[in-house]
Amino acid sequence: MNILVTGAAGYIGSHTCRQLIESGHQVTGYDNLSRGHQEAFDRASAGGKLVIGDLANTPLLVRSLRENEIQAVVHFAAFGLVGESVEHPELYRQNNVEGSRSLLQAMLEANVKRLVVSSTTAIYGEPSQMPISEDNPAAPINPYGQSKWEVEQMLVNAQEQHGLGFTALRYFNAAGASLDGLLGEDHEPETHLIPIVLQVALGQRDRISIFGDDYSTPDGTCVRDYVHVLDLASAHVRALERLQPGELLQVNLGSGIGTSVQEIVEQARRVTGHPIPADIVPRRPGDPPCLIANNQLAKSELGWQPVHSDITTILSTAWDWHHRHPRGYTP
Ligand SMILES: NC(=O)c1ccc[n+]([C@@H]2O[C@H](COP(=O)([O-])OP(=O)(O)OC[C@H]3O[C@@H](n4cnc5c(N)ncnc54)[C@H](O)[C@@H]3O)[C@@H](O)[C@H]2O)c1
Repeated sequence: MNILVTGAAGYIGSHTCRQLIESGHQVTGYDNLSRGHQEAFDRASAGGKLVIGDLANTPLLVRSLRENEIQAVVHFAAFGLVGESVEHPELYRQNNVEGSRSLLQAMLEANVKRLVVSSTTAIYGEPSQMPISEDNPAAPINPYGQSKWEVEQMLVNAQEQHGLGFTALRYFNAAGASLDGLLGEDHEPETHLIPIVLQVALGQRDRISIFGDDYSTPDGTCVRDYVHVLDLASAHVRALERLQPGELLQVNLGSGIGTSVQEIVEQARRVTGHPIPADIVPRRPGDPPCLIANNQLAKSELGWQPVHSDITTILSTAWDWHHRHPRGYTP
Protein backbone atom coordinates (compact mmCIF):
# COMPACT_ATOMS: atom_id res chain seq x y z
CA MET A 1 0.00 0.00 0.00
CA ASN A 2 0.93 3.65 -0.39
CA ILE A 3 0.80 5.04 3.14
CA LEU A 4 1.00 8.56 4.54
CA VAL A 5 2.49 8.66 8.04
CA THR A 6 1.91 11.85 10.03
CA GLY A 7 4.40 12.43 12.85
CA ALA A 8 6.83 10.26 10.87
CA ALA A 9 9.87 12.09 12.33
CA GLY A 10 8.82 11.32 15.91
CA TYR A 11 9.74 8.47 18.21
CA ILE A 12 7.01 5.90 17.49
CA GLY A 13 6.39 7.23 13.97
CA SER A 14 9.97 6.67 12.80
CA HIS A 15 10.10 3.09 14.15
CA THR A 16 6.78 2.36 12.43
CA CYS A 17 7.92 3.86 9.10
CA ARG A 18 10.87 1.51 9.15
CA GLN A 19 8.71 -1.58 9.73
CA LEU A 20 6.17 -0.50 7.11
CA ILE A 21 8.94 -0.17 4.54
CA GLU A 22 10.44 -3.51 5.59
CA SER A 23 6.97 -5.03 5.08
CA GLY A 24 6.94 -3.79 1.48
CA HIS A 25 4.80 -0.65 1.81
CA GLN A 26 5.52 2.70 0.17
CA VAL A 27 5.76 5.40 2.86
CA THR A 28 5.40 9.18 2.57
CA GLY A 29 6.14 11.00 5.84
CA TYR A 30 4.33 14.17 6.92
CA ASP A 31 5.69 16.18 9.86
CA ASN A 32 6.17 19.84 10.80
CA LEU A 33 9.34 18.92 12.75
CA SER A 34 8.04 20.86 15.78
CA ARG A 35 8.96 17.93 18.04
CA GLY A 36 10.52 15.37 15.72
CA HIS A 37 13.80 14.96 13.86
CA GLN A 38 14.41 14.86 10.11
CA GLU A 39 17.34 12.55 10.90
CA ALA A 40 14.99 10.02 12.55
CA PHE A 41 12.85 9.83 9.43
CA ASP A 42 15.88 9.71 7.12
CA ARG A 43 17.38 6.81 9.03
CA ALA A 44 14.04 4.97 9.28
CA SER A 45 13.23 5.34 5.60
CA ALA A 46 16.76 5.29 4.16
CA GLY A 47 16.17 8.67 2.55
CA GLY A 48 12.42 8.38 1.83
CA LYS A 49 10.08 11.29 1.12
CA LEU A 50 9.15 13.57 4.01
CA VAL A 51 6.65 16.38 3.41
CA ILE A 52 7.41 19.18 5.88
CA GLY A 53 3.95 20.45 6.74
CA ASP A 54 1.50 21.13 9.54
CA LEU A 55 -1.69 19.17 10.18
CA ALA A 56 -3.54 22.48 10.01
CA ASN A 57 -2.59 22.83 6.33
CA THR A 58 -5.52 20.93 4.81
CA PRO A 59 -4.69 21.80 1.17
CA LEU A 60 -1.13 20.49 1.57
CA LEU A 61 -2.50 17.30 3.11
CA VAL A 62 -4.94 16.84 0.21
CA ARG A 63 -2.11 17.37 -2.28
CA SER A 64 0.17 14.94 -0.44
CA LEU A 65 -2.59 12.30 -0.42
CA ARG A 66 -3.40 12.72 -4.11
CA GLU A 67 0.12 13.11 -5.51
CA ASN A 68 1.36 10.00 -3.71
CA GLU A 69 -1.80 7.98 -4.47
CA ILE A 70 -2.20 7.29 -0.75
CA GLN A 71 -4.46 4.38 0.23
CA ALA A 72 -4.16 4.59 4.03
CA VAL A 73 -2.94 6.99 6.71
CA VAL A 74 -1.16 6.31 10.00
CA HIS A 75 -1.60 9.32 12.26
CA PHE A 76 0.94 9.90 15.05
CA ALA A 77 1.28 13.69 14.82
CA ALA A 78 0.19 15.27 18.10
CA PHE A 79 1.55 16.82 21.26
CA GLY A 80 1.79 14.30 24.10
CA LEU A 81 2.93 16.00 27.30
CA VAL A 82 0.39 15.81 30.12
CA GLY A 83 1.92 18.66 32.15
CA GLU A 84 2.11 20.96 29.12
CA SER A 85 -1.53 20.15 28.32
CA VAL A 86 -2.61 21.26 31.81
CA GLU A 87 -0.73 24.55 31.37
CA HIS A 88 -1.86 25.12 27.76
CA PRO A 89 -5.12 23.26 27.15
CA GLU A 90 -5.91 25.38 24.08
CA LEU A 91 -2.66 24.30 22.42
CA TYR A 92 -3.75 20.68 22.78
CA ARG A 93 -7.24 21.36 21.47
CA GLN A 94 -5.77 23.17 18.48
CA ASN A 95 -2.95 20.80 17.61
CA ASN A 96 -4.45 17.43 18.52
CA VAL A 97 -8.19 17.87 17.97
CA GLU A 98 -8.32 20.52 15.22
CA GLY A 99 -5.20 19.05 13.58
CA SER A 100 -6.92 15.66 13.36
CA ARG A 101 -10.08 17.31 12.04
CA SER A 102 -8.02 18.88 9.25
CA LEU A 103 -6.47 15.50 8.42
CA LEU A 104 -9.88 13.83 8.38
CA GLN A 105 -11.27 16.54 6.08
CA ALA A 106 -8.32 16.07 3.71
CA MET A 107 -8.78 12.28 3.70
CA LEU A 108 -12.46 12.56 2.88
CA GLU A 109 -11.68 15.06 0.11
CA ALA A 110 -9.06 12.71 -1.35
CA ASN A 111 -11.33 9.68 -0.77
CA VAL A 112 -8.88 7.88 1.54
CA LYS A 113 -10.94 5.70 3.89
CA ARG A 114 -8.39 3.85 6.01
CA LEU A 115 -6.81 5.37 9.13
CA VAL A 116 -4.76 4.01 12.02
CA VAL A 117 -4.46 6.56 14.80
CA SER A 118 -2.42 6.91 18.03
CA SER A 119 -4.53 7.04 21.13
CA THR A 120 -3.55 6.60 24.74
CA THR A 121 -4.29 5.05 28.09
CA ALA A 122 -4.79 8.66 29.30
CA ILE A 123 -8.35 8.49 27.94
CA TYR A 124 -9.24 6.14 30.84
CA GLY A 125 -8.20 8.63 33.54
CA GLU A 126 -8.14 6.79 36.87
CA PRO A 127 -9.82 3.50 35.96
CA SER A 128 -11.52 1.37 38.58
CA GLN A 129 -10.92 -1.90 36.73
CA MET A 130 -7.44 -3.50 36.53
CA PRO A 131 -6.14 -4.68 34.10
CA ILE A 132 -7.85 -2.08 31.91
CA SER A 133 -9.94 -3.41 29.06
CA GLU A 134 -11.45 -1.34 26.26
CA ASP A 135 -14.92 -1.35 27.82
CA ASN A 136 -13.62 0.68 30.76
CA PRO A 137 -15.41 4.03 30.37
CA ALA A 138 -13.38 6.93 29.01
CA ALA A 139 -12.91 9.54 31.73
CA PRO A 140 -9.79 11.58 30.95
CA ILE A 141 -8.45 13.73 33.78
CA ASN A 142 -6.20 16.06 31.77
CA PRO A 143 -6.50 18.02 28.49
CA TYR A 144 -4.09 15.67 26.70
CA GLY A 145 -6.28 12.61 27.43
CA GLN A 146 -9.36 14.66 26.62
CA SER A 147 -7.93 15.69 23.23
CA LYS A 148 -7.26 12.07 22.26
CA TRP A 149 -10.71 10.97 23.39
CA GLU A 150 -12.31 13.75 21.31
CA VAL A 151 -10.35 12.56 18.28
CA GLU A 152 -11.65 9.00 18.74
CA GLN A 153 -15.22 10.30 18.99
CA MET A 154 -14.74 12.43 15.87
CA LEU A 155 -13.59 9.33 14.01
CA VAL A 156 -16.55 7.27 15.24
CA ASN A 157 -18.81 9.94 13.69
CA ALA A 158 -16.83 9.84 10.44
CA GLN A 159 -17.14 6.06 10.38
CA GLU A 160 -20.93 6.34 10.74
CA GLN A 161 -21.39 9.24 8.33
CA HIS A 162 -18.69 8.69 5.70
CA GLY A 163 -17.75 5.02 5.92
CA LEU A 164 -14.27 5.76 7.25
CA GLY A 165 -12.43 2.66 8.47
CA PHE A 166 -10.27 3.34 11.50
CA THR A 167 -8.31 1.62 14.22
CA ALA A 168 -7.43 3.61 17.35
CA LEU A 169 -4.46 2.09 19.15
CA ARG A 170 -4.43 3.08 22.81
CA TYR A 171 -0.80 2.81 23.86
CA PHE A 172 0.38 2.35 27.39
CA ASN A 173 3.98 3.53 28.06
CA ALA A 174 6.08 3.37 24.89
CA ALA A 175 9.71 2.56 25.62
CA GLY A 176 12.88 1.00 24.18
CA ALA A 177 14.76 1.53 20.94
CA SER A 178 15.59 -0.34 17.74
CA LEU A 179 17.68 -3.48 18.22
CA ASP A 180 20.53 -2.13 16.04
CA GLY A 181 20.73 1.21 17.87
CA LEU A 182 19.78 3.22 14.76
CA LEU A 183 16.54 4.72 16.11
CA GLY A 184 15.51 5.72 19.61
CA GLU A 185 13.77 8.19 21.88
CA ASP A 186 14.79 11.86 21.72
CA HIS A 187 12.20 14.17 23.30
CA GLU A 188 12.86 17.72 24.49
CA PRO A 189 11.89 18.13 27.27
CA GLU A 190 12.12 14.48 28.27
CA THR A 191 9.30 13.51 30.64
CA HIS A 192 9.34 9.71 30.36
CA LEU A 193 10.74 7.68 33.24
CA ILE A 194 13.12 5.34 31.39
CA PRO A 195 15.07 7.96 29.40
CA ILE A 196 15.28 10.12 32.53
CA VAL A 197 16.70 7.22 34.57
CA LEU A 198 19.21 6.53 31.79
CA GLN A 199 20.21 10.20 31.67
CA VAL A 200 21.34 9.80 35.29
CA ALA A 201 23.47 6.82 34.24
CA LEU A 202 24.95 8.97 31.46
CA GLY A 203 25.84 11.73 33.94
CA GLN A 204 23.39 14.18 32.34
CA ARG A 205 21.31 14.37 35.54
CA ASP A 206 22.47 13.96 39.14
CA ARG A 207 19.65 11.81 40.49
CA ILE A 208 16.11 10.68 39.92
CA SER A 209 12.98 11.63 41.89
CA ILE A 210 10.48 8.90 42.69
CA PHE A 211 7.07 10.48 43.24
CA GLY A 212 5.60 8.67 46.25
CA ASP A 213 6.37 5.31 47.85
CA ASP A 214 3.13 4.94 49.79
CA TYR A 215 0.78 3.78 47.02
CA SER A 216 -1.22 0.58 47.41
CA THR A 217 1.25 -1.35 45.22
CA PRO A 218 3.71 -4.13 46.21
CA ASP A 219 6.67 -1.77 46.80
CA GLY A 220 4.64 1.42 47.28
CA THR A 221 5.74 3.08 44.01
CA CYS A 222 3.51 3.54 40.94
CA VAL A 223 3.09 0.58 38.60
CA ARG A 224 2.94 1.08 34.81
CA ASP A 225 2.73 -1.06 31.69
CA TYR A 226 5.74 -0.59 29.38
CA VAL A 227 5.45 -1.68 25.76
CA HIS A 228 8.42 -1.81 23.43
CA VAL A 229 8.31 0.64 20.53
CA LEU A 230 9.03 -2.24 18.12
CA ASP A 231 5.93 -4.05 19.37
CA LEU A 232 3.91 -0.86 18.91
CA ALA A 233 5.25 -0.55 15.37
CA SER A 234 4.34 -4.15 14.50
CA ALA A 235 0.78 -3.57 15.77
CA HIS A 236 0.43 -0.65 13.34
CA VAL A 237 1.54 -2.80 10.42
CA ARG A 238 -0.98 -5.48 11.40
CA ALA A 239 -3.77 -2.97 12.00
CA LEU A 240 -3.21 -1.40 8.57
CA GLU A 241 -3.07 -4.66 6.71
CA ARG A 242 -6.41 -5.88 8.10
CA LEU A 243 -8.30 -2.56 8.00
CA GLN A 244 -11.18 -2.08 5.56
CA PRO A 245 -13.22 1.07 4.90
CA GLY A 246 -16.23 1.27 7.24
CA GLU A 247 -14.63 -0.85 9.99
CA LEU A 248 -13.98 0.43 13.50
CA LEU A 249 -11.65 -0.93 16.16
CA GLN A 250 -10.49 0.67 19.41
CA VAL A 251 -7.84 -1.41 21.09
CA ASN A 252 -5.30 -1.27 23.93
CA LEU A 253 -1.62 -1.80 23.21
CA GLY A 254 0.23 -2.75 26.33
CA SER A 255 2.42 -5.64 27.44
CA GLY A 256 -0.08 -6.70 30.12
CA ILE A 257 2.80 -6.62 32.63
CA GLY A 258 3.05 -4.10 35.46
CA THR A 259 6.47 -2.77 36.49
CA SER A 260 6.95 -0.37 39.39
CA VAL A 261 9.09 2.77 39.30
CA GLN A 262 11.34 1.19 41.93
CA GLU A 263 11.79 -1.92 39.75
CA ILE A 264 12.69 0.24 36.73
CA VAL A 265 15.38 2.02 38.74
CA GLU A 266 16.78 -1.26 40.08
CA GLN A 267 16.80 -2.91 36.65
CA ALA A 268 18.43 0.19 35.14
CA ARG A 269 21.19 -0.03 37.77
CA ARG A 270 21.77 -3.61 36.71
CA VAL A 271 21.77 -2.90 32.95
CA THR A 272 23.97 0.23 33.14
CA GLY A 273 26.22 -0.70 36.06
CA HIS A 274 25.61 2.81 37.45
CA PRO A 275 24.33 3.40 41.03
CA ILE A 276 21.57 5.83 39.80
CA PRO A 277 20.86 7.71 43.03
CA ALA A 278 17.12 8.09 43.70
CA ASP A 279 15.14 10.30 46.11
CA ILE A 280 11.61 9.61 47.32
CA VAL A 281 9.61 12.84 46.97
CA PRO A 282 5.89 13.54 47.54
CA ARG A 283 3.28 12.08 45.18
CA ARG A 284 2.31 14.07 42.06
CA PRO A 285 -1.38 14.90 41.79
CA GLY A 286 -3.21 12.81 39.19
CA ASP A 287 -0.84 9.79 39.16
CA PRO A 288 -2.98 6.64 39.49
CA PRO A 289 -1.24 3.88 41.52
CA CYS A 290 -1.43 1.27 38.79
CA LEU A 291 -2.11 1.18 35.02
CA ILE A 292 -1.89 -2.21 33.30
CA ALA A 293 -3.42 -3.18 29.97
CA ASN A 294 -5.73 -6.03 29.26
CA ASN A 295 -4.33 -6.70 25.76
CA GLN A 296 -6.57 -9.64 24.77
CA LEU A 297 -8.42 -7.65 22.10
CA ALA A 298 -5.18 -6.68 20.32
CA LYS A 299 -4.14 -10.32 20.37
CA SER A 300 -7.44 -11.66 19.04
CA GLU A 301 -8.31 -8.87 16.56
CA LEU A 302 -4.84 -8.02 15.24
CA GLY A 303 -3.10 -11.34 15.86
CA TRP A 304 -0.59 -9.21 17.76
CA GLN A 305 1.88 -10.51 20.29
CA PRO A 306 4.37 -8.32 22.15
CA VAL A 307 7.78 -9.96 21.71
CA HIS A 308 10.24 -7.29 22.89
CA SER A 309 8.29 -5.85 25.84
CA ASP A 310 10.05 -7.57 28.73
CA ILE A 311 11.70 -4.94 30.91
CA THR A 312 15.24 -6.25 30.26
CA THR A 313 14.93 -5.86 26.47
CA ILE A 314 13.29 -2.46 26.87
CA LEU A 315 16.05 -1.17 29.15
CA SER A 316 18.96 -2.72 27.28
CA THR A 317 17.84 -1.38 23.86
CA ALA A 318 17.10 2.05 25.36
CA TRP A 319 20.50 2.05 27.12
CA ASP A 320 22.28 1.04 23.91
CA TRP A 321 20.60 3.94 22.07
CA HIS A 322 21.27 6.56 24.77
CA HIS A 323 24.84 5.37 25.26
CA ARG A 324 25.59 5.57 21.53
CA HIS A 325 23.65 8.83 21.07
CA PRO A 326 23.98 10.88 24.29
CA ARG A 327 22.68 13.94 22.39
CA GLY A 328 19.94 12.03 20.60
CA TYR A 329 19.69 12.88 16.91
CA THR A 330 21.69 16.09 17.35
CA PRO A 331 25.12 15.52 15.76
N1 LIG B 1 5.33 8.05 23.74
C1 LIG B 1 4.34 7.46 24.45
O1 LIG B 1 4.56 6.79 25.47
C2 LIG B 1 2.90 7.59 23.98
C3 LIG B 1 1.90 6.97 24.74
C4 LIG B 1 0.58 7.07 24.30
C5 LIG B 1 0.28 7.75 23.15
N2 LIG B 1 1.26 8.37 22.44
C6 LIG B 1 0.90 9.09 21.21
O2 LIG B 1 1.65 8.54 20.14
C7 LIG B 1 1.95 9.54 19.16
C8 LIG B 1 3.44 9.56 18.90
O3 LIG B 1 4.13 9.76 20.13
P1 LIG B 1 5.70 10.00 20.16
O4 LIG B 1 6.17 9.67 21.52
O5 LIG B 1 6.30 9.34 18.98
O6 LIG B 1 5.74 11.58 19.98
P2 LIG B 1 6.80 12.49 19.20
O7 LIG B 1 6.66 13.86 19.77
O8 LIG B 1 8.14 11.85 19.22
O9 LIG B 1 6.24 12.47 17.72
C9 LIG B 1 5.18 13.27 17.28
C10 LIG B 1 5.55 13.85 15.94
O10 LIG B 1 4.44 14.62 15.44
C11 LIG B 1 4.92 15.84 14.90
N3 LIG B 1 3.82 16.82 15.01
C12 LIG B 1 3.21 17.26 16.13
N4 LIG B 1 2.24 18.14 15.82
C13 LIG B 1 2.23 18.26 14.45
C14 LIG B 1 1.45 19.00 13.54
N5 LIG B 1 0.52 19.85 13.95
N6 LIG B 1 1.71 18.86 12.22
C15 LIG B 1 2.67 18.00 11.79
N7 LIG B 1 3.46 17.28 12.60
C16 LIG B 1 3.23 17.41 13.94
C17 LIG B 1 6.14 16.20 15.74
O11 LIG B 1 7.04 17.06 15.06
C18 LIG B 1 6.74 14.81 15.99
O12 LIG B 1 7.68 14.45 15.01
C19 LIG B 1 1.38 10.84 19.71
O13 LIG B 1 0.11 11.03 19.14
C20 LIG B 1 1.26 10.56 21.19
O14 LIG B 1 0.23 11.32 21.79
C21 LIG B 1 2.57 8.29 22.82
